[in-house]
Amino acid sequence: MTETMTGATEQFDLLEETLRWYAEAGVDIAVDETPHNRFIEQRGETANPKPGMSTFALNQPVMAGSSVKESLVKAPSDAAILAEQLAGAAKTLEDLQNAMKDFNGCALKATATQMVFGDGSKNAKIMFVGEGPGREEDNQGLPFVGPAGQLLNKMLKSIHLPRADVYIANVVPWRPPGNRTPTTQELAICKPFIKRQIELIDPDILVCLGGPASQTLLEQKQGIVSLRGKWHDYSCGERVITAMPTFHPAYLLRQPLQKRLSWKDFQAIESVFRKS
Ligand code: URA
Repeated sequence: MTETMTGATEQFDLLEETLRWYAEAGVDIAVDETPHNRFIEQRGETANPKPGMSTFALNQPVMAGSSVKESLVKAPSDAAILAEQLAGAAKTLEDLQNAMKDFNGCALKATATQMVFGDGSKNAKIMFVGEGPGREEDNQGLPFVGPAGQLLNKMLKSIHLPRADVYIANVVPWRPPGNRTPTTQELAICKPFIKRQIELIDPDILVCLGGPASQTLLEQKQGIVSLRGKWHDYSCGERVITAMPTFHPAYLLRQPLQKRLSWKDFQAIESVFRKS
């Protein structure tokens, strides 16, 4: 091999190694060398707002179904406040879905194919909340339709619950790049939306699938291993309902031995469900 060819092979190996490192870190798309604010660019504005350019007035009343496309949400805390206002103004699931579609305060929206809102019966007495869409969910626009969803379907069947009778959603409705865990900030921004979605479904039982959903909705700091299997009170609008944290099906696919504990949780869920 000539010296030039050896040099090229080394460079290629280095590039491949770098790409693998990026992929493992969750960077799964190459966009550009410099960051872009696509929301602003799509509107034909400059990425650096001119001095004095107004940001969204966070204390202005938000009407159900109102569009926030034109707003500029700068800080994550502003985004969470705006999400709270929009969620509070949503009177129906449709209002909420439209408000979330228009919401530009969560960066996950920029890399996701589409928003994954929810699936199932709007009259469900039991609601399951997962972490966030994966690749398959991002493609289809429906929660839990990939491998973890297939396991969830089997788990539901094992407690005689047809999937069509339950309602399923996620704490974040946009796929985190590379299926990474949503950050604390992303979870905080999206929390008002999922809380309102639970209120609008108004189930008797809430099942939180995995650590991020359980910690976010039940306001807990402990990990899922200590949280799982114990009932919690959950404030759902005017009512207090009962909530069970349990393992995420994707975790069970990686750790099949933990299915024994999950089975116990699901039996407890079935027993409370039959009495409700
Ligand atoms: N994992 C989740 O948490 N939610 C989905 O919708 C799919 C996989």
